[in-house]
Amino acid sequence: MDNNKLIHPKFYFGNSTQQLEFDKVFSKNWLFAGMLSDFLENNSFITLDILDYPIVIQNFNGELRAFQNICPHRFNRIQTKTKGIDFFICGYHNWSFDKEGNVKSIPKKSSFNESHQDFNCLKVKPLRIEIVGKFVFVSLDQNSESIKEYLGVFHDKLLEVSLAIDYNFYFEDDLQNINWKLIVENVVEAYHCPAIHQNTLYNMGFCRKSEVNNDYYNGHSVADYPKSDKVDEGNKLLKYLDNIEIKHDTFRHYFIFPNLLISSTEGTSIYVGNILPVNSEKSILRKRFYSPKFRDNFIPKEAIHKAFLEMVKTSINQILEEDKVILEQIQKNMPFVENTYFLGKEESRINSFHEKYLELI
Ligand code: FES
Ligand SMILES: [Fe+2]
Repeated sequence: MDNNKLIHPKFYFGNSTQQLEFDKVFSKNWLFAGMLSDFLENNSFITLDILDYPIVIQNFNGELRAFQNICPHRFNRIQTKTKGIDFFICGYHNWSFDKEGNVKSIPKKSSFNESHQDFNCLKVKPLRIEIVGKFVFVSLDQNSESIKEYLGVFHDKLLEVSLAIDYNFYFEDDLQNINWKLIVENVVEAYHCPAIHQNTLYNMGFCRKSEVNNDYYNGHSVADYPKSDKVDEGNKLLKYLDNIEIKHDTFRHYFIFPNLLISSTEGTSIYVGNILPVNSEKSILRKRFYSPKFRDNFIPKEAIHKAFLEMVKTSINQILEEDKVILEQIQKNMPFVENTYFLGKEESRINSFHEKYLELI
């Protein structure tokens, strides 16, 4: 293995890589920022920080707009919560802004000597925004390629995943003492499953066979992890799940470079993970869990489906916790690691991630 093609351990800790990654990775590529279901109502918004860069996406009477979340007056954050429904008003001196980011109203405006023209140059910085199916992306780069070019074949794959997704039933931000790249590398291989997820994924019958249907483009990747034939199909009560819109008999996992993770367990539940790097040694894992969409007009029995989703929530959170324990330990080891040497066949998606990262850095 040519280890020049692998990311050196020094990129996983300390202060030196943060600015470099912001400039070369996060401010140059399209970034997943939310799901359409986050913005159902007028004035609903989501905020996210990428290595301290504050972003807000807000619904303005049905139109989604993205901005740098900084007020042009005295530089306060405009939306301060993670998500919610509120006017686009800065809480420091109550200036409000329209959907273009222009100043809409200013308390005691006459106390400023400036003319109307001067206020016109003050603007909340708009960011590019694109919607692919139910996925919302932003770009900090006004000149970057289109989202379609950026995603390539993964554009249509996201449209297909969107058809499988119904409503969100769980949202949580989890602060983890882990470099964002370690989180990516962990989820794009199932090689660790028999050891780490013995009582969860492995017991459910996944990760005993090799991954199939791999596809790669521009750092993005997907793979299917088939279910073992030896596993008992289990509870007949869950037979109603045969009515979901998109069914497959694998654990399917997508990675959209640099920080979006999507997994679907046989189509019956969908997890959307968004890694928000805080610094080189901390990340927020923003977790969203979705109910599957049912075909035709099938309506599941409410109590049974609710109990199923509760089980999904416990199970995904347990898997994520199992990963977090290992990765926080690995993060502590990184300053003492001298090089990365080998990746096996079951780690080929890590390889494609490293190649894309090194191409940018
Ligand atoms: S800083 Fe936002 S209104 Fe003053
Ligand atoms: Fe895992």
